[in-house]
Amino acid sequence: MKRIAVFTSGGDAPGMNAHIRAVERTAGKRGLEVIGIIGGYAGMIAGHFEVLDRIRTANILDRGGTVLKTSRCEEFMHPDGRTKAAEQLVKHGIDAVIACGGDGTFSGAHFLNAEHGVTIIGTPGTIDNDLSGTDYTIGYDTAINTATAAIDKIRDTADSHGRLFFIEVMGRHAGFIAMDVGVATGAEYVAVHETLTDIEVLYQRIIAQGLDSRTIVIVGEGDELGGAYELSRTMEERYGLASKVSILGHMQRGGSPTVRDRVLGARLGAAAVDALLEGYSNVMIGEIGGSITYVPLRETWENRKQVPQYLLELAHLLV
Ligand code: F6P
Repeated sequence: MKRIAVFTSGGDAPGMNAHIRAVERTAGKRGLEVIGIIGGYAGMIAGHFEVLDRIRTANILDRGGTVLKTSRCEEFMHPDGRTKAAEQLVKHGIDAVIACGGDGTFSGAHFLNAEHGVTIIGTPGTIDNDLSGTDYTIGYDTAINTATAAIDKIRDTADSHGRLFFIEVMGRHAGFIAMDVGVATGAEYVAVHETLTDIEVLYQRIIAQGLDSRTIVIVGEGDELGGAYELSRTMEERYGLASKVSILGHMQRGGSPTVRDRVLGARLGAAAVDALLEGYSNVMIGEIGGSITYVPLRETWENRKQVPQYLLELAHLLV
């Protein structure tokens, strides 16, 4: 193995740059050349490849986003797109690839391996933390800290006015962000699709808090009853309750990564290079209980990762 490539794909996540830097540094120490693929799978198909070296990866550790850019690539979901991508890898003399992203990225990597024999390793990069086989994903810690800081600020104004707020956080398929942030901010109710959102119980909580008091309801964007606007509308229609809505949105994906995300990104980057040299392919490199794990890519999305029971219990206990 002489030349490897690294790319980021799907939603960007803080810590991806620390990851890219670690891949470049580790590969350099092991005598490998590293190519950066610009713009995820779209860049792979288009042949947007560039050599990564120490200079290119210097001073990026503290930056949010990804210097390699990213995309959600429709073309790659089809066999023809993957064939074009595989041809580009051959053309550029790439022996193996490290793909940093979420479940969509990994399913693409899985098929690239299955259909074209590409040696590929995945690393978990998504703010959603919804990949099984790793305790945490790169970007999650920064996202929950960003969301918590924003909700603390909303709490100030909610408290001053005695208002009810529905605050929506990200997490399409999983309520990790909502549950952690809900406990961290002392929310009166956390609505996620993992638990049934009960409008009557929610109303009772709001009443118990006092109609003129500050009440914070965190809504995971994947909640089965809809997002924060839907819940706010339902409370108004059923009970005549006025409320404010705040969608935190993409601010949760940006910003300088926390120490935890920098260290996780760095560790998994180094481990991914070494895993390739040890002959691994079609696995995700994760971290469980402090140890590096090698999980078949398919398992990362087929075995749905569960929000820990203790978080669900705490959120109910501490209201
Ligand atoms: O990357 C994960 C995520 O931020 C989800 O939490 C969110 O639902 C989705 O991406 C938004 O994606 P996009 O930026 O493509 O709209």
